Amino acid sequence: MASDNEIILRMEHINMFFPGVKALKDVTFNLRRGEIHSLMGENGAGKSTLIKVLTGVYAKTSGDIIYCGNHINPKSTLESQQIGISTVYQEVNLCQNLTVAENIYIGREPRGRFGAIDWRKMSNDAQKLLKNSLGIDIDVNQTLSFYPVAMQQMIAIARAIDTRCKILILDEPTSSLSDKETEKLFSIMRDLRDTGISIIFISHFLEQIYAICDRITVLRDGEYVGEYDVKTLPRIELISKMMGKEIKEGEIETTQSKSKARESVFLSTEHLTVPGKVKDLTMNIHEGEVIGLAGLLGAGRTEIAESLFGLNQATSGTIEVEGVKVSVKSPMDMMDRRVAFCPEDRKSAGVFGDLSVRENIMIALQAKNGMFKHMPRAKQNELADYYIDLLRIKVSDREQMLSNLSGGNQQKVIIARWLATQPSLLILDEPTRGIDVGTKTEIEALAVSLAREKGMSVVFISGEMGEMVRTCSRILVIRDHVKITELAEDEISEAHIMQAIAGDYHGHA
Ligand SMILES: Nc1ncnc2c1ncn2[C@@H]1O[C@H](COP(=O)(O)OP(=O)(O)OP(=O)(O)O)[C@@H](O)[C@H]1O
Ligand SMILES: [Mg+2]
Repeated sequence: MASDNEIILRMEHINMFFPGVKALKDVTFNLRRGEIHSLMGENGAGKSTLIKVLTGVYAKTSGDIIYCGNHINPKSTLESQQIGISTVYQEVNLCQNLTVAENIYIGREPRGRFGAIDWRKMSNDAQKLLKNSLGIDIDVNQTLSFYPVAMQQMIAIARAIDTRCKILILDEPTSSLSDKETEKLFSIMRDLRDTGISIIFISHFLEQIYAICDRITVLRDGEYVGEYDVKTLPRIELISKMMGKEIKEGEIETTQSKSKARESVFLSTEHLTVPGKVKDLTMNIHEGEVIGLAGLLGAGRTEIAESLFGLNQATSGTIEVEGVKVSVKSPMDMMDRRVAFCPEDRKSAGVFGDLSVRENIMIALQAKNGMFKHMPRAKQNELADYYIDLLRIKVSDREQMLSNLSGGNQQKVIIARWLATQPSLLILDEPTRGIDVGTKTEIEALAVSLAREKGMSVVFISGEMGEMVRTCSRILVIRDHVKITELAEDEISEAHIMQAIAGDYHGHA
């Protein structure tokens, strides 16, 4: 960290009002030179809005921004980039149909003598940038959509790092990255900090905040709560400040009483095989149990989930639901059997930004009931309100457009959509990514209570071992698309899961 504590950016009395929503109320933010500073707050607290006010995406209602001693008022992302403020937004804002190289150099393409774009230089530079800064070796002439979300995120980060900035802003950059990729990013962030660049880092992973940040500013309900040194702010106090109430040790992330599997099996597979995705999977899912799929990124957990939901077609093996063999051609076949799947990549999967929160919640249920059996509006309202309340979705009202919700609240709407179909089997792929600490515990508890009280079967996928341990009563460990072992009840611990993934623990199964 720079020793002089020089303030490079000061945001004062910032107000940002959307129609009907006061997203920021008299917010203060101070950023020092050469520090990594986290903005913390619950879903909808105003973090992304503050970033967008700073970078000219939104025109603030009032307030001052003083950057390097001058008042600034950027009108666009490009303008803020030109003065040295580079941003990776929460939504990956790259162009899917352009190449990787084009995405990295868009708006600042290298040009030849006569002003024509020097395509060869552009590819070479892009290749070098990715290799040198992030250790990524990919074909930069491929269109972006060819690569998975995690890779796209890395590309967005490379682009931001390359624009010789004074301030680098990363709004939840790690939510789709693996531990290894996150480590790589952190080491780059430390290097950048040591050269005097200031970094604003937003994440709901407390571990990451404590690993990388120097200071924290907390927002709550669009208001400034305070700024703190990470070293002197215990986690429990940070959470209290975010939630606005006293939290006692153990109140968050406690182990709840687990679900209890019933005798009857809801779904089973035998030797299920989907080429390249699932290898010879035999498993049972009982009624009333929360069953976890553990494994590293790329192990094949999501592919298994997709196959259970009919998104992938098996070439051999069988799926039975309630003892009856089903021929699965599409998700509709599984939805008919009361299976629901809430996918990991909720940013692109099924977010209908220009529909209302109510419509987004109703859409799967409506599809299941048949488009022509229209549900009365009063009933729709009642259901929407129920789920808004249950998942504490922050909206001004149920008719608000989904795209106007904060990132985490949009995710909650997608979870609500699948809950509303009242499935017998609910598959949740990374349900708490991007969800704030308070609500996260509630979603874990909800999964358990649906299983325990309603007898629902839940398949739970999470990269956070602690969360799996808290939630699941049985865990299948997946490696290279193969189930290598099962852990039951007392065998479930973070250490055992890690050992099993590494191949050193075989449980009893
Ligand atoms: N374009 C918009 N129109 C209306 N309201 C908006 C708009 N953008 C954001 N809001 C509202 O402003 C508030 C703050 O949202 P913001 O996206 O800044 O939250 P956040 O702290 O980034 O949350 P998350 O952790 O979920 O990403 C929310 O109540 C949101 O609904
Ligand atoms: Mg946000």
